[in-house]
This record gives sequence, structure tokens and C-alpha cells, in this order.
Amino acid sequence: MYQAKIFFLLVWIVISLQIISQNQTISINTANTSLIMSVNKNKLYHNYYGRRIADIPEYKQILNFKHESFRYEAYPVFGGNYIEEPAMRVTHTDGNLSLCLHVQDVQQKEIDQNRTETIIKLKDAYYPFNVSLKFSAFHKQDIIESSVMFNHEENGDVKIHNVASFFMQFDKRKNYLTQFHGDWGNEMMMKEHLLTEGVKILDSKQGVRTTRTQNPSFIISFDQPAHEDMGEVMMGHIAWSGNWNLLFQLTHEGRLNMLGGINPFASQYSLKKGELFETPKAIYTYSSEGTGRASRNFHSWAREYTIPEGKRFRPVLLNNWEGTLFDFDQKKIASIIDGAKDLGVEMFVLDDAWFGNKYPRNDEKNGLGDWEVNKTKLPGGIKFLTDKCKSNNLKFGIWVEPEMVNPNSELFKKHPDWVIQQPHRTIEQNRWQYILDLTNLNVQEFIFSVIDNLLTQNPDIYFIKWDANRHIMNAGTSNLPPDLQEHIWIDYTRGFYKILDRIKQKYPQIIFQSCASGGGRVEYGALKYFHEFWTSDNTDAYQRIFIQWGLSHLYPANTIASHVTSVPNHQNGRVTPIKYRFDVAMSGRLGVEMQPDHMTADEKAFTKQAIRNYYEIRDVVQSGDLYRLRSPFGNNVASLMYVSDAGDKAVFFVWQMNRTVGMNPEPIRLKGLIPEAKYKITEINTLNTTPKSFVATGDFLMKSGFIITTSKWASDAANTISFLTDFDSEVYKIEQVK
Ligand code: DGJ
Repeated sequence: MYQAKIFFLLVWIVISLQIISQNQTISINTANTSLIMSVNKNKLYHNYYGRRIADIPEYKQILNFKHESFRYEAYPVFGGNYIEEPAMRVTHTDGNLSLCLHVQDVQQKEIDQNRTETIIKLKDAYYPFNVSLKFSAFHKQDIIESSVMFNHEENGDVKIHNVASFFMQFDKRKNYLTQFHGDWGNEMMMKEHLLTEGVKILDSKQGVRTTRTQNPSFIISFDQPAHEDMGEVMMGHIAWSGNWNLLFQLTHEGRLNMLGGINPFASQYSLKKGELFETPKAIYTYSSEGTGRASRNFHSWAREYTIPEGKRFRPVLLNNWEGTLFDFDQKKIASIIDGAKDLGVEMFVLDDAWFGNKYPRNDEKNGLGDWEVNKTKLPGGIKFLTDKCKSNNLKFGIWVEPEMVNPNSELFKKHPDWVIQQPHRTIEQNRWQYILDLTNLNVQEFIFSVIDNLLTQNPDIYFIKWDANRHIMNAGTSNLPPDLQEHIWIDYTRGFYKILDRIKQKYPQIIFQSCASGGGRVEYGALKYFHEFWTSDNTDAYQRIFIQWGLSHLYPANTIASHVTSVPNHQNGRVTPIKYRFDVAMSGRLGVEMQPDHMTADEKAFTKQAIRNYYEIRDVVQSGDLYRLRSPFGNNVASLMYVSDAGDKAVFFVWQMNRTVGMNPEPIRLKGLIPEAKYKITEINTLNTTPKSFVATGDFLMKSGFIITTSKWASDAANTISFLTDFDSEVYKIEQVK
């Protein structure tokens, strides 16, 4: 055993030395991409990221040539001759503002057949300051995760001003940036523009709910605007639930530099001697087959390696929020549970307003923080409801918002110092609530115990919806000394992760949903803990098509909670037919927020049918490959489909966006099918019409496809979709005929 260890150590050292001394080229390859760096006179240079380079030795000669004339550091730091936006900036204990990093060691190892890990160790030329760049490459998914670890042995604290999780650069090209911008109820709107000289920053300074107005993701399309199936794109993301930033700089030479990670804004960090700091991960992929392939790379990586139980099917649920808001009691909920059973869902989720006694949670202004069941509303406690669900063969889920507190709560009266606040300033309220100070260990303990008590006292809880309905204002904490106040942003997020780590360790079987006023916490830092997210408080089906479209670029369908509500919804959304609402929601993780007692017989009948249909297509939707067929942005018709791994099953969705009589949208051609296979195509979710059904080859469906018309005279062909009224839509199940 001991000898074997020594042997492996020696092999390791030999490989490392070879990389540095003899080869000096570091290539990180996936199935279709290469990231190439090189070491020259102890410095680490970036050479290439893009389509896979087949012949690295030959490429090396070119690299050597390039070294003579160009020197682009792979992780440029502030203080030397580098004059653009640096990846890292620190102040040493003696006041020196500079870093000068030299390569010490390069290690590459295979984790398993699909994953390699590369660690490049750097050290300052003078100071005992060490930086390790870590790259995990996922072969099949063409994904690279990059993060940075550093520590020092200086006598005192080194001040960290900024440290990027990744730094990437590209030679002069045209670069089109797509960002995922929006607002509450209008998350993930896609905007694309040509980058011009200078710096463009995407970021969040909100501390919590950091994806409400902007998602920490981007697409850079090279040479031309991004296309679904063609062209070269890089898609990237920062997995961090706190303040993040992404910076794109087009230099005076026309090169593109990009970097991102924790937002350095008001966030200087004092690093103690010996303390290890690890940045969040940046995740990126490069595709030469457009954004479609890049998304599929992200989805496959997420399901396989990041989100909890990525391949476990998410239950169809009924949540009472839009049906009742704050207004319910035990009788009403019991009746909703019966209704949920009748509709055919698998789980009931009790939302906000089940707690608080001295300050009953009957509106947004009271009770947050007092996590005991409201005895007037629910005299039988949660047990009554879990039993009720059990007897109906339903799972039970419950809503919490444990990071928050209302001033009108027993918790706040007892612990006014537990909230985020600054001396001599009024504490700002947002949704009538304050935010608890997660840098404080007592607060962390309290939040853990809230969940722990809930789950130990109610072992039949299956699902937790974890909400967070405000962002940080008055950033300040009585928990940290005056000179460390800027730590609040990072320490809050670390506190959040610590709590979740503990909870997940103790309760690995519970399904967690991330919610933050809708899609305010949708990023892969949180998705390490949360199985899915509440997509948006806006359940207007028409607008959801845009929101879900944006999300689909980064997140697989099994994370996108998509619920059907009554119309107009509580935000006074559009009045769309129930079929349209289901046809949209069924392209994600289906749920219902209608109050069964208020539904008509027709609505119930359709809902039951649609939920039954969903069970038949769930495996393909939740684990299949996504092909976006037509974007809702700028088109009259939007469409996407999912295809099973084997290509033998698919589901095809098509939604009308704007109906203009006489419009003739281009046919929609399917993708991802087996050309020579024969498929049976069956319409589902039909409303008063006979479902269409026909057989065609994959070749036909992908080359000829479906004709879309708004005229009832246009065509009787089986592959015709006639959109004759507003908010029309169709869904097809596609199965290979063997
Ligand atoms: C905001 C969430 O997005 C809603 O779904 C709901 O849970 C409310 N909070 C409850 O207060």
C-alpha cells in the first residue's frame, strides 16, 4: 500500500515536471474544445480557447513563435506591466500594491473517464503569496469549471480587492454579447449587441436575490449574432449566490478579455495569514454548433454533476399560493388537497402564511421569523395536513423564508441585533421585512434549527420551497468589527451555504426549491443545493414563454418550475385559454396553482387530461435533449422540442405569439431525430378536437417539418398546424415505430 503510494507520487512528480520543463504547454481538452496555455520563463500565458486542436505538438511550435511577439498572460494580475482590467488585485501587508506570479507547478490528473483536473500553482516572486488556478474539464459535455484558490504567509492581513474566478481572452474578432436581463416578473429577457471598445460590466450588488434583474450568465457569439445551430459561441456562468460580476473588455488592440466572479464592489476582503480563500466556480463551454449545442452541454453537465439528483423526475405539484394567497384555514387547505388528488398531481405544497401566533401571518407585514404553526388557521398543525396528504396518496411540501424577519415578529423583538443594519441609519424595509445577518453564527444556528425542527417534527415533509423576498440594503453587521464591514457580502453568502450544507447533509432526501420573489436566486451556486427554482412570480403563459426561453439557455427543463394558474392571474396577466397555459407549463417542470374549488368542470377535465399526458412525456421533457426551434423574440410563433437520449422519443411544442391573419410563418423543421427512423406523431392536450396522428420519418420531419397557417383554408395535410384564434398552441408526442 505504502509502496504503491510512493509510486503514484513519483509518477505524479514526473508528469508535473514534464509539463513545466519540457513541454511547457498545458492543454485542457474536452471532446470538442481545447483550452491551451503555456509556461514561458515562469510566466503563464494564454494561447487559445475554442474548437479542439487536433495536433498539440504542432500547435506548440506556433505557440513558441507567438511567444516572441505576443504575451498574453492567462491570469493577469495588477501591479506589473499589465494595464487592462486585472484578474486579481491585492495589497500586501507592507503596502505593496503589486503581484508578480510565477508558475511553480502544474498537475493534471484524470478524475474518471469523463473528467480531468488541472491545477496550476503560482507564487509571487517575492511575497509568500500562493495562487492555484483550478480547471475541471468535462469531456462529453465540453464544459470547463474554473476557480482560484489562494493563501499567504505574510505577517498580517493581505487586502484582496478583486479576484476573478476565470479570465478568458480571444484574438480580434467581432463579438456579440447576449445578456439575460430583466426585472421581477420579467426575468431572463435576452438582449444581444455587438461589443465595442471599452468595458462592459454585468453585475449584481443586491447581496441576496441577485438574479432578479440580471442572471450571471452570458453568451459571446463570434463573427456574427448568435444562431441556434451554427457559428462559434462561448457560453458562461458564475455559480455564486452573492454579488457577482462579469466584465468584458475590448482592448485598444481589439482583443476581447473577459473575467468574472465575486463582485469586487465594496467588498474588500482581509485575508489572514494561512487562511485559504476559494472563489466560486465559473462554468463555460465553447460550441461551434451555435447556442443549441452550448445549452445542451450546460444541461447535461448540470443534470449529471451539479443539481441534486439531476436525473430524478420532479413531481407534479399543486401549490396553494395563487389560489389562496394569505387567506386560508385548515378546512380550505383540506379541500384543496382533495381537489389536488382529484386533478392527479403527486404533491401538495403549502405556501406562505401558515405560521405566526402573536403576530399571525395574515399579510406580508407580520409574523416572518416566528416559525410555529398558526393555531387559529391550522389547529391540527402540519401533522393534520401531512396525514391528509398521505391518505390521498400525495406528498407534502412546505414554504419557508428563513433568512427574513418582519419587524412585527417575536423574533425581531427578541433579537433586534440579528438583522443587517448600519449604525445611525434607519433600517430600510423591503416587503415590510428585514434581512437576518447570516454572517452571525447564532443566526446560522437559528435558521438551521428552523428547518431541522420542521423536518424532525414532520417526517412526512417531502419538499421545501425556500423563499427570499428582498435584497440587502444598509449593508452592515454588528457581528464584524468596523474594519471588516465589507466582508458582509461574502460572509453572508458563505453563511447561507454553510446552513444549506448542514441541512443537506442531514436531510439529503428532501427536494428543495429555490425561490426569491420568483426567479431571484437562479444560478448554479444555489443549484448545488436546490433541485429546481420558482421561475417567476409572473405566471402569464404568454410572458412565461419568453422567460422560460431565456432560462432554457442555461438550465435544464427539470429545474424550471412552471405552474398553471387561473386567469387573469394575481398579477392581472393575460387571459389565455387553459390549453395554452398547460401547453406552455408542460415544457418545464409542470405544476398547478389554481384553486380546485374554483375551477369549472371543463377546466378540471382538461387539467386531468393534461396532467396524465405530462406523466407520459415527463421523462423526455425532464431528461431529454433540448432543441429550440423558433424563438419567441421577434417571431409570430415559438417552438421547441425535447428528444430522448436514444432518439426514439420526442415532444414538440409550438405556441402562437402574435396572430396576424395572412401571416405565413416558415414551416417548423424538427431536430435531433434519427433520419431513417419512422415516428408516430400524436397530438396531445386537445380541446374539443380529434387529436391529429400520423406517421413520418425523422428525415421528413427534420427537412419538411410542420406547416403553420392562420388560415382555415390553407391545408388539410396532417403536418399542418392551423392557428385560428389568439393564444393557440399545440403539443405532439413523437415515438419511434419499431
Ligand atoms: C414570493 C414567491 O415567489 C411566491 O411564489 C410566494 O411564495 C410568495 N413569495 C409568498 O409570500
